[in-house]
Amino acid sequence: MNTQTPAPGTEKVLGAFSSAFGGAPDGVWQAPGRVNLIGEHTDYNEGFVLPFAIDLAARVAVRVRPDRTVRLLSTYGRQGVVELDRDALSRESATGWTVYPAGVVWALAEHGVDVPGFDLVLDSGVPLGSGLSSSHAIECAVATALTELAGAELAPEELVLLTQRAENEFVGAPTGIMDQSASLRGAAGHAVFLDCRDQSVELIPFDAPAAGLTVLVVDTKVSHSHADGGYASRRSACELGAEVLGVAALRDVSSADLAEAQGLLDDVTFRRVRHVVTEDERVLRTVEILRSEGPAAIGALLDASHASMRDDFEISCPELDLAVETARSAGAIGARMTGGGFGGSAIALVPTTAEGRVREAVTAAFAAAGYRAPDLFAVSPADGARRVG
Ligand code: GLA
Repeated sequence: MNTQTPAPGTEKVLGAFSSAFGGAPDGVWQAPGRVNLIGEHTDYNEGFVLPFAIDLAARVAVRVRPDRTVRLLSTYGRQGVVELDRDALSRESATGWTVYPAGVVWALAEHGVDVPGFDLVLDSGVPLGSGLSSSHAIECAVATALTELAGAELAPEELVLLTQRAENEFVGAPTGIMDQSASLRGAAGHAVFLDCRDQSVELIPFDAPAAGLTVLVVDTKVSHSHADGGYASRRSACELGAEVLGVAALRDVSSADLAEAQGLLDDVTFRRVRHVVTEDERVLRTVEILRSEGPAAIGALLDASHASMRDDFEISCPELDLAVETARSAGAIGARMTGGGFGGSAIALVPTTAEGRVREAVTAAFAAAGYRAPDLFAVSPADGARRVG
Protein backbone atom coordinates (compact mmCIF):
# COMPACT_ATOMS: atom_id res chain seq x y z
CA MET A 1 0.00 0.00 0.00
CA ASN A 2 1.25 3.43 -0.80
CA THR A 3 -1.00 5.30 1.63
CA GLN A 4 -1.15 5.18 5.41
CA THR A 5 -4.90 5.64 5.82
CA PRO A 6 -7.03 3.01 4.05
CA ALA A 7 -9.23 4.44 1.31
CA PRO A 8 -12.92 4.48 2.35
CA GLY A 9 -14.57 1.09 1.85
CA THR A 10 -11.29 -0.84 1.69
CA GLU A 11 -10.91 -1.52 5.44
CA LYS A 12 -12.62 -4.92 5.32
CA VAL A 13 -10.64 -6.29 2.40
CA LEU A 14 -7.39 -4.94 3.86
CA GLY A 15 -8.15 -6.49 7.27
CA ALA A 16 -8.94 -9.86 5.69
CA PHE A 17 -5.79 -9.66 3.59
CA SER A 18 -3.54 -8.98 6.55
CA SER A 19 -5.17 -11.79 8.62
CA ALA A 20 -4.88 -14.34 5.82
CA PHE A 21 -1.55 -13.46 4.25
CA GLY A 22 0.14 -10.99 6.63
CA GLY A 23 1.07 -7.40 5.82
CA ALA A 24 -0.47 -5.21 3.16
CA PRO A 25 -1.33 -5.83 -0.52
CA ASP A 26 0.25 -4.02 -3.43
CA GLY A 27 -3.09 -2.35 -4.02
CA VAL A 28 -6.90 -2.59 -3.96
CA TRP A 29 -9.03 -2.53 -7.11
CA GLN A 30 -12.79 -2.58 -7.52
CA ALA A 31 -15.31 -3.23 -10.28
CA PRO A 32 -19.06 -2.68 -10.05
CA GLY A 33 -22.03 -4.90 -10.81
CA ARG A 34 -24.62 -3.60 -13.26
CA VAL A 35 -28.29 -3.31 -13.93
CA ASN A 36 -29.46 -3.24 -17.50
CA LEU A 37 -31.92 -0.43 -18.09
CA ILE A 38 -33.00 -1.97 -21.40
CA GLY A 39 -31.66 -4.20 -24.20
CA GLU A 40 -31.79 -7.82 -23.10
CA HIS A 41 -30.25 -10.72 -25.06
CA THR A 42 -29.32 -8.25 -27.77
CA ASP A 43 -25.59 -8.19 -27.01
CA TYR A 44 -24.70 -11.55 -28.59
CA ASN A 45 -26.87 -10.57 -31.57
CA GLU A 46 -24.50 -7.65 -32.25
CA GLY A 47 -27.22 -5.22 -31.19
CA PHE A 48 -27.64 -2.42 -28.65
CA VAL A 49 -27.73 -2.39 -24.84
CA LEU A 50 -28.16 0.33 -22.22
CA PRO A 51 -26.87 -0.88 -18.84
CA PHE A 52 -25.31 1.12 -16.04
CA ALA A 53 -22.63 0.26 -13.49
CA ILE A 54 -24.14 0.26 -10.00
CA ASP A 55 -22.88 1.51 -6.68
CA LEU A 56 -22.19 -2.05 -5.46
CA ALA A 57 -18.78 -3.44 -6.32
CA ALA A 58 -16.41 -6.37 -5.97
CA ARG A 59 -13.11 -5.35 -4.34
CA VAL A 60 -9.84 -7.26 -4.55
CA ALA A 61 -6.64 -6.74 -2.55
CA VAL A 62 -3.71 -8.26 -4.42
CA ARG A 63 0.00 -8.76 -3.78
CA VAL A 64 2.41 -10.24 -6.26
CA ARG A 65 4.42 -13.27 -5.09
CA PRO A 66 7.96 -14.21 -6.08
CA ASP A 67 6.83 -17.71 -7.18
CA ARG A 68 4.10 -19.22 -9.38
CA THR A 69 1.57 -19.90 -6.62
CA VAL A 70 -1.86 -18.26 -6.55
CA ARG A 71 -3.64 -18.03 -3.19
CA LEU A 72 -7.27 -16.88 -3.16
CA LEU A 73 -9.63 -16.02 -0.33
CA SER A 74 -13.15 -14.57 -0.32
CA THR A 75 -14.66 -12.81 2.70
CA TYR A 76 -17.92 -14.51 1.69
CA GLY A 77 -18.66 -18.16 2.47
CA ARG A 78 -16.57 -20.79 4.14
CA GLN A 79 -14.27 -21.94 1.40
CA GLY A 80 -11.07 -20.63 3.09
CA VAL A 81 -7.81 -20.06 1.25
CA VAL A 82 -7.59 -21.91 -2.07
CA GLU A 83 -4.11 -22.51 -3.44
CA LEU A 84 -3.59 -23.02 -7.16
CA ASP A 85 -0.57 -23.54 -9.39
CA ARG A 86 -0.38 -20.56 -11.74
CA ASP A 87 1.00 -22.78 -14.52
CA ALA A 88 -1.54 -25.57 -14.18
CA LEU A 89 -4.84 -23.71 -14.02
CA SER A 90 -7.83 -25.66 -15.25
CA ARG A 91 -11.58 -25.52 -14.85
CA GLU A 92 -11.31 -28.60 -12.64
CA SER A 93 -8.63 -27.20 -10.32
CA ALA A 94 -10.68 -24.05 -9.61
CA THR A 95 -13.70 -24.56 -7.38
CA GLY A 96 -16.53 -22.26 -6.31
CA TRP A 97 -15.89 -18.55 -6.87
CA THR A 98 -12.18 -19.15 -7.65
CA VAL A 99 -13.18 -20.13 -11.18
CA TYR A 100 -13.54 -16.39 -11.93
CA PRO A 101 -10.02 -15.20 -10.99
CA ALA A 102 -8.56 -18.42 -12.40
CA GLY A 103 -10.43 -17.79 -15.68
CA VAL A 104 -9.02 -14.27 -15.87
CA VAL A 105 -5.44 -15.47 -15.32
CA TRP A 106 -6.00 -18.09 -18.02
CA ALA A 107 -7.46 -15.53 -20.46
CA LEU A 108 -4.61 -13.08 -19.77
CA ALA A 109 -2.07 -15.81 -20.54
CA GLU A 110 -3.93 -16.63 -23.78
CA HIS A 111 -3.64 -12.93 -24.60
CA GLY A 112 0.11 -13.04 -23.99
CA VAL A 113 0.11 -11.36 -20.57
CA ASP A 114 2.20 -13.38 -18.15
CA VAL A 115 0.78 -12.83 -14.67
CA PRO A 116 3.10 -13.84 -11.82
CA GLY A 117 1.93 -15.74 -8.73
CA PHE A 118 -0.12 -13.61 -6.32
CA ASP A 119 -2.19 -13.55 -3.13
CA LEU A 120 -5.70 -12.16 -3.48
CA VAL A 121 -8.62 -11.43 -1.16
CA LEU A 122 -12.06 -10.73 -2.58
CA ASP A 123 -14.71 -8.74 -0.74
CA SER A 124 -17.81 -8.33 -2.90
CA GLY A 125 -20.79 -6.09 -2.26
CA VAL A 126 -22.66 -7.42 -5.32
CA PRO A 127 -25.17 -10.01 -4.13
CA LEU A 128 -24.20 -13.39 -5.61
CA GLY A 129 -26.52 -14.92 -8.19
CA SER A 130 -28.80 -11.87 -8.09
CA GLY A 131 -28.64 -11.18 -11.83
CA LEU A 132 -26.59 -8.03 -11.12
CA SER A 133 -23.50 -9.49 -12.69
CA SER A 134 -21.64 -10.51 -9.55
CA SER A 135 -19.36 -12.84 -11.52
CA HIS A 136 -18.37 -10.20 -14.07
CA ALA A 137 -17.69 -7.72 -11.25
CA ILE A 138 -15.16 -10.20 -9.82
CA GLU A 139 -13.62 -10.88 -13.24
CA CYS A 140 -13.32 -7.18 -14.07
CA ALA A 141 -11.81 -6.29 -10.68
CA VAL A 142 -9.27 -9.12 -11.02
CA ALA A 143 -8.47 -8.26 -14.65
CA THR A 144 -7.95 -4.58 -13.81
CA ALA A 145 -5.68 -5.46 -10.88
CA LEU A 146 -3.61 -8.09 -12.68
CA THR A 147 -3.04 -6.12 -15.88
CA GLU A 148 -1.72 -3.22 -13.82
CA LEU A 149 0.47 -5.48 -11.68
CA ALA A 150 1.80 -7.27 -14.77
CA GLY A 151 2.61 -3.89 -16.34
CA ALA A 152 0.34 -4.62 -19.32
CA GLU A 153 -1.61 -1.83 -20.97
CA LEU A 154 -4.88 -3.06 -22.41
CA ALA A 155 -7.63 -0.89 -23.87
CA PRO A 156 -11.08 -1.32 -22.26
CA GLU A 157 -12.30 -3.02 -25.46
CA GLU A 158 -9.54 -5.63 -25.12
CA LEU A 159 -10.30 -6.19 -21.43
CA VAL A 160 -13.97 -6.68 -22.34
CA LEU A 161 -13.14 -9.42 -24.85
CA LEU A 162 -10.63 -10.99 -22.51
CA THR A 163 -13.06 -11.25 -19.59
CA GLN A 164 -15.73 -12.52 -22.00
CA ARG A 165 -13.29 -15.25 -23.02
CA ALA A 166 -12.72 -16.15 -19.36
CA GLU A 167 -16.49 -16.44 -18.91
CA ASN A 168 -17.21 -18.30 -22.18
CA GLU A 169 -14.25 -20.64 -22.46
CA PHE A 170 -13.06 -21.15 -18.88
CA VAL A 171 -16.19 -20.75 -16.75
CA GLY A 172 -18.40 -22.20 -19.50
CA ALA A 173 -21.18 -19.58 -19.67
CA PRO A 174 -21.92 -18.48 -23.27
CA THR A 175 -22.59 -14.84 -22.39
CA GLY A 176 -22.12 -11.67 -24.45
CA ILE A 177 -20.19 -8.44 -23.73
CA MET A 178 -22.76 -6.28 -21.96
CA ASP A 179 -21.86 -6.95 -18.34
CA GLN A 180 -18.11 -6.48 -18.70
CA SER A 181 -18.64 -3.32 -20.74
CA ALA A 182 -20.85 -1.80 -18.04
CA SER A 183 -18.45 -2.80 -15.27
CA LEU A 184 -15.34 -1.55 -17.08
CA ARG A 185 -16.72 1.46 -18.93
CA GLY A 186 -19.53 2.77 -16.67
CA ALA A 187 -19.55 6.33 -15.31
CA ALA A 188 -21.41 7.97 -12.43
CA GLY A 189 -24.64 9.64 -13.53
CA HIS A 190 -24.67 7.86 -16.89
CA ALA A 191 -25.97 4.79 -18.67
CA VAL A 192 -23.64 3.03 -21.09
CA PHE A 193 -25.12 2.98 -24.60
CA LEU A 194 -23.12 0.21 -26.25
CA ASP A 195 -23.17 -0.92 -29.84
CA CYS A 196 -22.17 -4.56 -29.46
CA ARG A 197 -21.11 -4.85 -33.10
CA ASP A 198 -18.16 -2.46 -32.87
CA GLN A 199 -18.01 -1.90 -29.09
CA SER A 200 -18.52 1.84 -29.49
CA VAL A 201 -19.85 3.46 -26.33
CA GLU A 202 -21.72 6.66 -25.69
CA LEU A 203 -22.40 7.71 -22.12
CA ILE A 204 -26.01 8.87 -21.82
CA PRO A 205 -26.87 11.11 -18.85
CA PHE A 206 -29.24 9.19 -16.59
CA ASP A 207 -30.02 11.27 -13.54
CA ALA A 208 -33.08 9.62 -12.03
CA PRO A 209 -33.01 11.63 -8.75
CA ALA A 210 -33.12 14.93 -10.68
CA ALA A 211 -36.36 13.66 -12.26
CA GLY A 212 -37.70 12.68 -8.83
CA LEU A 213 -37.18 8.99 -9.59
CA THR A 214 -35.44 6.03 -7.99
CA VAL A 215 -34.29 2.80 -9.66
CA LEU A 216 -35.42 0.10 -7.29
CA VAL A 217 -34.01 -3.41 -7.61
CA VAL A 218 -36.12 -6.38 -6.59
CA ASP A 219 -33.81 -9.35 -6.08
CA THR A 220 -36.24 -12.28 -6.24
CA LYS A 221 -33.64 -14.69 -4.73
CA VAL A 222 -34.58 -17.14 -7.44
CA SER A 223 -31.20 -18.40 -8.52
CA HIS A 224 -30.19 -18.58 -12.13
CA SER A 225 -27.06 -19.79 -13.83
CA HIS A 226 -26.00 -18.80 -17.31
CA ALA A 227 -24.01 -22.00 -17.58
CA ASP A 228 -27.39 -23.77 -17.62
CA GLY A 229 -29.37 -24.61 -20.71
CA GLY A 230 -31.93 -21.77 -20.93
CA TYR A 231 -29.49 -19.03 -21.88
CA ALA A 232 -27.62 -21.23 -24.36
CA SER A 233 -30.83 -22.39 -26.04
CA ARG A 234 -31.97 -18.77 -26.53
CA ARG A 235 -28.62 -17.98 -28.07
CA SER A 236 -28.89 -20.95 -30.45
CA ALA A 237 -32.42 -19.93 -31.47
CA CYS A 238 -31.11 -16.47 -32.37
CA GLU A 239 -28.26 -17.95 -34.40
CA LEU A 240 -30.70 -20.21 -36.22
CA GLY A 241 -32.97 -17.23 -36.92
CA ALA A 242 -30.10 -15.20 -38.36
CA GLU A 243 -28.99 -18.11 -40.53
CA VAL A 244 -32.46 -18.75 -41.99
CA LEU A 245 -32.97 -15.03 -42.61
CA GLY A 246 -29.58 -14.81 -44.29
CA VAL A 247 -28.07 -12.10 -42.07
CA ALA A 248 -24.78 -11.95 -40.16
CA ALA A 249 -26.64 -11.30 -36.90
CA LEU A 250 -30.18 -10.37 -35.81
CA ARG A 251 -28.96 -6.79 -35.51
CA ASP A 252 -29.43 -6.70 -39.28
CA VAL A 253 -33.17 -7.42 -39.13
CA SER A 254 -35.69 -4.62 -38.54
CA SER A 255 -39.32 -4.76 -37.47
CA ALA A 256 -40.31 -4.03 -41.07
CA ASP A 257 -38.84 -7.46 -41.96
CA LEU A 258 -40.82 -9.36 -39.33
CA ALA A 259 -43.89 -10.16 -41.42
CA GLU A 260 -41.72 -11.90 -43.99
CA ALA A 261 -39.62 -13.57 -41.28
CA GLN A 262 -42.75 -15.09 -39.79
CA GLY A 263 -43.32 -17.06 -42.97
CA LEU A 264 -39.76 -18.43 -42.92
CA LEU A 265 -39.32 -19.40 -39.27
CA ASP A 266 -41.02 -21.86 -36.94
CA ASP A 267 -43.17 -20.21 -34.27
CA VAL A 268 -40.68 -20.42 -31.40
CA THR A 269 -37.72 -19.17 -33.43
CA PHE A 270 -39.88 -16.38 -34.84
CA ARG A 271 -40.83 -15.18 -31.37
CA ARG A 272 -37.20 -15.27 -30.21
CA VAL A 273 -36.25 -13.21 -33.26
CA ARG A 274 -39.13 -10.78 -32.71
CA HIS A 275 -37.97 -10.13 -29.15
CA VAL A 276 -34.42 -9.29 -30.23
CA VAL A 277 -35.50 -7.12 -33.16
CA THR A 278 -38.05 -5.12 -31.19
CA GLU A 279 -35.73 -4.90 -28.17
CA ASP A 280 -32.96 -3.33 -30.27
CA GLU A 281 -35.49 -0.76 -31.45
CA ARG A 282 -36.62 -0.10 -27.87
CA VAL A 283 -33.01 0.58 -26.83
CA LEU A 284 -32.60 3.15 -29.61
CA ARG A 285 -35.92 4.76 -28.71
CA THR A 286 -35.01 4.85 -25.01
CA VAL A 287 -31.76 6.65 -25.79
CA GLU A 288 -33.67 9.19 -27.92
CA ILE A 289 -36.21 9.77 -25.17
CA LEU A 290 -33.57 10.08 -22.45
CA ARG A 291 -31.92 12.77 -24.54
CA SER A 292 -35.10 14.66 -25.39
CA GLU A 293 -37.39 14.20 -22.39
CA GLY A 294 -35.45 12.44 -19.61
CA PRO A 295 -36.02 9.33 -17.48
CA ALA A 296 -39.64 10.08 -16.56
CA ALA A 297 -40.70 9.31 -20.15
CA ILE A 298 -39.18 5.82 -20.60
CA GLY A 299 -41.65 3.83 -18.48
CA ALA A 300 -43.70 2.39 -21.35
CA LEU A 301 -40.55 1.11 -23.04
CA LEU A 302 -39.50 -0.75 -19.88
CA ASP A 303 -42.95 -2.33 -19.66
CA ALA A 304 -42.90 -3.36 -23.33
CA SER A 305 -39.45 -4.88 -22.87
CA HIS A 306 -40.67 -6.99 -19.97
CA ALA A 307 -43.73 -8.19 -21.90
CA SER A 308 -41.51 -9.19 -24.81
CA MET A 309 -39.17 -11.17 -22.53
CA ARG A 310 -42.10 -12.83 -20.81
CA ASP A 311 -44.12 -13.73 -23.91
CA ASP A 312 -41.71 -13.93 -26.85
CA PHE A 313 -38.30 -14.77 -25.37
CA GLU A 314 -39.82 -16.69 -22.43
CA ILE A 315 -37.06 -15.97 -19.93
CA SER A 316 -39.13 -14.53 -17.09
CA CYS A 317 -40.49 -16.52 -14.14
CA PRO A 318 -43.54 -16.10 -11.85
CA GLU A 319 -41.50 -14.25 -9.19
CA LEU A 320 -40.13 -11.73 -11.71
CA ASP A 321 -43.58 -11.21 -13.23
CA LEU A 322 -45.07 -10.66 -9.79
CA ALA A 323 -42.35 -8.14 -8.88
CA VAL A 324 -42.94 -6.21 -12.11
CA GLU A 325 -46.75 -6.26 -11.95
CA THR A 326 -46.90 -5.33 -8.28
CA ALA A 327 -44.36 -2.52 -8.63
CA ARG A 328 -46.41 -1.11 -11.53
CA SER A 329 -49.72 -1.27 -9.67
CA ALA A 330 -48.14 0.36 -6.61
CA GLY A 331 -46.91 3.38 -8.56
CA ALA A 332 -43.76 2.48 -10.57
CA ILE A 333 -43.76 4.25 -13.94
CA GLY A 334 -42.15 1.23 -15.62
CA ALA A 335 -40.61 -2.09 -14.62
CA ARG A 336 -38.85 -5.05 -16.18
CA MET A 337 -36.71 -8.03 -15.35
CA THR A 338 -33.03 -7.28 -15.85
CA GLY A 339 -30.16 -9.53 -16.95
CA GLY A 340 -30.19 -13.02 -18.40
CA GLY A 341 -33.50 -14.11 -16.86
CA PHE A 342 -34.85 -17.33 -15.32
CA GLY A 343 -34.56 -15.64 -11.90
CA GLY A 344 -32.36 -12.88 -10.55
CA SER A 345 -33.63 -9.32 -10.32
CA ALA A 346 -36.23 -6.93 -11.70
CA ILE A 347 -35.88 -3.15 -11.78
CA ALA A 348 -38.66 -0.64 -11.27
CA LEU A 349 -38.45 3.05 -12.08
CA VAL A 350 -40.31 4.57 -9.17
CA PRO A 351 -41.26 8.13 -8.23
CA THR A 352 -39.17 8.66 -5.10
CA THR A 353 -42.33 9.67 -3.24
CA ALA A 354 -43.85 6.24 -3.98
CA GLU A 355 -40.76 4.18 -3.09
CA GLY A 356 -42.01 3.12 0.36
CA ARG A 357 -45.37 2.08 -1.06
CA VAL A 358 -43.79 0.01 -3.83
CA ARG A 359 -41.40 -1.71 -1.42
CA GLU A 360 -44.27 -2.63 0.91
CA ALA A 361 -46.52 -3.83 -1.89
CA VAL A 362 -43.85 -6.08 -3.45
CA THR A 363 -42.85 -7.55 -0.08
CA ALA A 364 -46.51 -8.22 0.78
CA ALA A 365 -47.26 -9.76 -2.63
CA PHE A 366 -44.31 -12.17 -2.31
CA ALA A 367 -45.43 -13.21 1.18
CA ALA A 368 -49.02 -13.72 -0.02
CA ALA A 369 -47.80 -15.90 -2.92
CA GLY A 370 -45.67 -17.99 -0.55
CA TYR A 371 -42.42 -16.91 -2.26
CA ARG A 372 -39.14 -16.36 -0.47
CA ALA A 373 -38.84 -12.74 0.79
CA PRO A 374 -37.16 -10.59 -1.89
CA ASP A 375 -34.43 -8.03 -1.25
CA LEU A 376 -35.26 -4.48 -2.32
CA PHE A 377 -32.70 -1.73 -2.70
CA ALA A 378 -32.12 1.43 -4.71
CA VAL A 379 -29.19 1.73 -7.12
CA SER A 380 -27.66 4.59 -9.05
CA PRO A 381 -25.12 4.80 -11.88
CA ALA A 382 -21.54 4.59 -10.64
CA ASP A 383 -18.02 4.69 -12.05
CA GLY A 384 -16.50 1.63 -13.66
CA ALA A 385 -13.54 -0.51 -12.56
CA ARG A 386 -10.56 1.28 -11.03
CA ARG A 387 -7.82 1.22 -8.41
CA VAL A 388 -9.08 2.44 -5.05
CA GLY A 389 -6.19 1.83 -2.69
C1 GLA B 1 -26.33 -12.00 -19.06
C2 GLA B 1 -25.12 -12.02 -19.98
C3 GLA B 1 -25.09 -10.81 -20.89
C4 GLA B 1 -26.42 -10.61 -21.60
C5 GLA B 1 -27.58 -10.70 -20.60
C6 GLA B 1 -28.92 -10.66 -21.30
O1 GLA B 1 -26.23 -10.95 -18.15
O2 GLA B 1 -23.93 -12.06 -19.21
O3 GLA B 1 -24.03 -10.95 -21.82
O4 GLA B 1 -26.57 -11.52 -22.65
O5 GLA B 1 -27.52 -11.88 -19.82
O6 GLA B 1 -29.14 -9.42 -21.84
